[in-house]
Amino acid sequence: MDILTKKVKGAEDILPADSYKWQLVEEIMREEAAKSGFKEIRTPVFEHTVLFNRSVGETTDVVQKEMYTFDTKGGESITLRPEGTAGAARAYLEHAIYNDGLPVKVFYQLTCYRYEKAQAGRQREFHQFGMETYGAADPKADAEMICAANGIFDRLGVSDIRLELNSIGCKTCRKDYTNALKEYFTAHKGELCETCLSRLDRNPMRILDCKNESCKNIAKDAPVVLDYICSDCSAHFDKVKTFLDAADVSYTVNPTIVRGLDYYTRTVFEFVTDSIGAQGTVCGGGRYDGLIEELGGQPTPALGFAMGIERLMLVMKAQGIELPEEETCDLYIAALGDEAEKKAFSLACMLRSASLAVETDIVGRGLRAQMKYANKIKAKYSVVIGDDDLKNNKVTIKNMSTHDTVETSLDEDKFLEAMTDLVVGQQEELISGLLGEDAGTFFEALKNLNG
Ligand code: HAM
Repeated sequence: MDILTKKVKGAEDILPADSYKWQLVEEIMREEAAKSGFKEIRTPVFEHTVLFNRSVGETTDVVQKEMYTFDTKGGESITLRPEGTAGAARAYLEHAIYNDGLPVKVFYQLTCYRYEKAQAGRQREFHQFGMETYGAADPKADAEMICAANGIFDRLGVSDIRLELNSIGCKTCRKDYTNALKEYFTAHKGELCETCLSRLDRNPMRILDCKNESCKNIAKDAPVVLDYICSDCSAHFDKVKTFLDAADVSYTVNPTIVRGLDYYTRTVFEFVTDSIGAQGTVCGGGRYDGLIEELGGQPTPALGFAMGIERLMLVMKAQGIELPEEETCDLYIAALGDEAEKKAFSLACMLRSASLAVETDIVGRGLRAQMKYANKIKAKYSVVIGDDDLKNNKVTIKNMSTHDTVETSLDEDKFLEAMTDLVVGQQEELISGLLGEDAGTFFEALKNLNG
């Protein structure tokens, strides 16, 4: 196939027939984030390479093998973001957002880039929704973060997903664990891949998330971090669990979770499903109490998570979760003849500026084809304007599902009034259907609210 019409491997298009699903899911995520006081942050798609080296970590798979790094014409090393935490932390410091008062809570929806082997649920360009909190050391913050992620799965109706939890300790207790790992992996030196051999001295914990089969096999029996955490970290972890219990969020402790990025401390967690094959981790996150200081800021406890939206979509599909597409066109205006077309066009513009969704012909179709199109786009109402209608200043608006009709004038204000009545009436009918007996009280309250 011609390269001109072929996308780059590992990237995906989101087509018009599917984009409404993304919009719905993203809207739900935004709403859930807002409920806990998180505000959106948007950061650039690229950052200085050194930011990711420092935060994600020099010895991680992401930095060593997966980053899209290039030199600009000015000779700067730039990297397409492989994740959202580093950029958000950089912006937090650069704009001194901490001056607005702590905690600072942000969320983001962004594309990420990792040069990985592309397969179902693993792409080279993918989308993350993430949330981050700065300035909260309390275990309640960990529980709030986990509950927020859990709330998104609940809202979307995703059920077959489990929360796995671990604590990987702090700087102090990590030392003992690192020594234990060094000792263990040194005894298996001959079976480690080149990359992991170099990790042995610098950061043996990263051997635990190597994707090489031989390394994975050895890692299975390695010492687990939970056995090495100090009493403060242990008490913190216990409290996180207590708050999750209080919120009725179920979890299992999985002592093998260490996450693949270097900045984590204490609580780490993943939401995992078996319904989408090998790439079953839909969401991952945890605490990173050392990152802000590492980037030059004051010591600041912080934590967050990110979920992969492609993986979430796969889970929803696998679990048969339907996202109904909303019919969006309120009115289709068909027209026959030059003058009628002008009227149709001006009416469409007027109605759109009054917030109605309106379509009219823009490709020169005949009347029959226009009506066929109105059916195809599932217009809620249609109207046909011909020369006679113009002369008589009268048209008939038709409800496309019930075929009920309403006659109205073509004068802009009268036409708008007729359409508004119809659309509002339809909405009220819909609400009544949903509310049943309570509908009367609801409309009364609404009237009072609106004065
Ligand atoms: P992560 O575990 O590397 O964490 O990625 C989070 C999620 O992004 C994964 O659970 C997965 O759903 C999705 N994901 C990762 N790589 C791919 C890929 N190649 N294709 C499709 N989806 C992918 C982070 O990125 C951290 N920044 C999360 C975080 C935020 N921790 C604290 N705050």
